[in-house]
Amino acid sequence: MNKLIVSLLLTVGISGIAHAAGDATAGQAKAAVCGACHGPDGNSMAPNFPKLAGQGERYLNKQLHDIKSGKRTVLEMTGLLTNLSDQDLADIAAYFASQKGSVGAADPKIVARGEALFRGGDLAKGLPACTGCHSPNGAGNAAAGFPHLGGQHAQYIAKQLTDFRKEEGGRTNDGDTKTMQTIAKRLSDEDIAAVASYINGLH
Ligand code: HEC
Ligand code: HEC
Repeated sequence: MNKLIVSLLLTVGISGIAHAAGDATAGQAKAAVCGACHGPDGNSMAPNFPKLAGQGERYLNKQLHDIKSGKRTVLEMTGLLTNLSDQDLADIAAYFASQKGSVGAADPKIVARGEALFRGGDLAKGLPACTGCHSPNGAGNAAAGFPHLGGQHAQYIAKQLTDFRKEEGGRTNDGDTKTMQTIAKRLSDEDIAAVASYINGLH
């Protein structure tokens, strides 16, 4: 295995925070306000609003804490989480994690390049395969907090990869190891478009 991925795997695995256990039933009522953008069951219609259905509970919980604390900026969600407790966030995470995520379709013109990157990385650029953490079918690794990607809107995925790449004003909340920031900086715009499209059709 390549050195980068080994060191990333080691550090990412131990950097998680322990949170309260969530109750999906209690979470459904608390998530009502989220449905306007993310869809009542977490399958959003708009491609800039991420699907939350079937996402890993640990990952969701981490994002909610990061968005609430301002470590990750989501302007559309300003103030929405302020009055929610750790238990509320855990319950909401459990609810969306219990739902089934929908799948889209890859663009046939760029799917081959996307698949090659996702499955094999790019040795010349020192880019690890995405499957190492996000698994071959894009399901991620819920226990480790590696997010489920399969079926996610391509537009949302492309925006995240572009944001991870930015030095300022981007997405800087991926833990102390900067796993995704390191990886995204090695992706070109064409790589991002291709891998995002591939992910949209992956299941
Ligand atoms: C007005 C629209 C809107 C509402 C309402 C909203 N969100 Fe969001 N949410 C967004 C957008 C847009 C993003 C993605 C921002 C970006 O591109 O990084 C997001 C991102 C997220 C993410 C990160 C997903 C990921 O894959 O990393 C989570 C988790 C989330 N929202 C949960 C919630 C919850 C829980 C609620 C209700 C309490 C909620 N959102 C309400 C618009 C909304
Ligand atoms: C060493 C493990 C690892 C590898 C390899 C990896 N990722 Fe990630 N990825 C992560 C982790 C961990 C996160 C969550 C960061 C956080 O907690 O905010 C993540 C988050 C993401 C997100 C944001 C998901 C969301 O819902 O917002 C995208 C998109 C993504 N990765 C795409 C990729 C692609 C494409 C590749 C291959 C080119 C890749 N990743 C390779 C560990 C990895």
